[in-house]
Amino acid sequence: MDFSLSEEHIMIQQAARDFANNELLPGVIERDENQTFPHEQIKKLGELGFLGMMTDTQYNGSGMDTLSYVIAMEELSKVDASASVVVSVNNSLVCWGLEAFGNEEQKQKYLSRLASGEVIGAFCLSEPEAGSDATSQKTTAIDKGDHYILNGTKNWITNGGTADIYLVIAQTNREKGHKGINALIVEKGMDGFEIGPKENKLGIRGSDTHSLNFNDVKVPKENRIGEDGFGFKFAMKTLSGGRIGIAAQALGIAAGAYELALKYAKERKAFGTEIANHQAIAFKLADMHTQIEAARNLVYKSAWEKDNGKNYDLSSAMAKLYASKVAMETTVEAVQIHGGNGFVKDYHVERLMRDAKITQIYEGTSEIQKIVISRSILQN
Ligand code: CAA
Repeated sequence: MDFSLSEEHIMIQQAARDFANNELLPGVIERDENQTFPHEQIKKLGELGFLGMMTDTQYNGSGMDTLSYVIAMEELSKVDASASVVVSVNNSLVCWGLEAFGNEEQKQKYLSRLASGEVIGAFCLSEPEAGSDATSQKTTAIDKGDHYILNGTKNWITNGGTADIYLVIAQTNREKGHKGINALIVEKGMDGFEIGPKENKLGIRGSDTHSLNFNDVKVPKENRIGEDGFGFKFAMKTLSGGRIGIAAQALGIAAGAYELALKYAKERKAFGTEIANHQAIAFKLADMHTQIEAARNLVYKSAWEKDNGKNYDLSSAMAKLYASKVAMETTVEAVQIHGGNGFVKDYHVERLMRDAKITQIYEGTSEIQKIVISRSILQN
């Protein structure tokens, strides 16, 4: 086994780190406070190839592996999780889903624009009454021959207001249960498609989260992804990869908070010495460092499985479950190490603590990851 990163991976890491420090860090506190979407930064990330990292170059992607993507996600998330969730959703839920399961026309028409960052995408599965219970879709896509008529509401949609292209999961045939669900490509501006108000959130406040309403939206049949009834499997398969991205985001939030806490502990003095010299603080740093390394190994292993054609449903669930727990615990400890300063926005750790929470919720809550993990180990 070789745990070292290749030269190419180190270059990607450095590029993402530089981008985070030079482009994301300035203004990150204000964007969080004012709930401002990082438009300029996302545009630049697209120009640099970070929005279609794993997409083939023939569709304007960067043609990189999943490990490159998680390395970049970690670095961006150390500084700005509101920006990194846009990168994650566009890469692994939208571009990857379209490349893996879309047909050639769909890839030419939509994927090329998404992978270059010309437009960004959204993945629309959750509903007011179908978050974790994702097979209970109330949104309907009624088959009308050459098109579907889409009706319903989607909730908590990342990039909801900013996206141009939406992958929408909806029930066509209720009698067939999850086998009667379809995934449709919906464009902003289609008649009857309305974007609801932006959510006012605890964390990742710079990201753009909305509910969406579909009122008799006519979606051409050529916009269906895969065979009739493939929509739920499409969502599940795509989410397995998405969970690697969110695990990497959680890892980055944890690592960012740890790096700030380490620096602070070496500078701040109390009782006549730097606080890092007190075992109460040194042991916290030891625990944080160990847990982050363990989370990183789970995330990298899952990326490796995906890159090597193995089944990564179990490893992605474990990576997300553990990395998000580490993100939550590490950020709480980072605030504690900062003491009173940790409670103040200027020191960044309170934002990272608020941002960490969503990694235990979106793309499958921690409880859902435990369902996936326990079913996997019990059936073998
Ligand atoms: N790959 C392929 N197929 C899969 C699969 C996978 N990873 N997981 C499940 N399936 C298939 C099953 O095999 C089954 O098909 P068959 O009947 O043909 O065997 C079908 O899907 C239904 O599966 P289950 O019977 O296991 O369904 P369930 O009702 O028990 O639910 C679940 C399974 C794992 C709980 C699922 O509902 C789930 O993952 N829920 C969480 C949804 C979620 O992650 N939402 C996040 C929203 S997206 C988001 O947050 C994006 C964002 O903007 C950031």
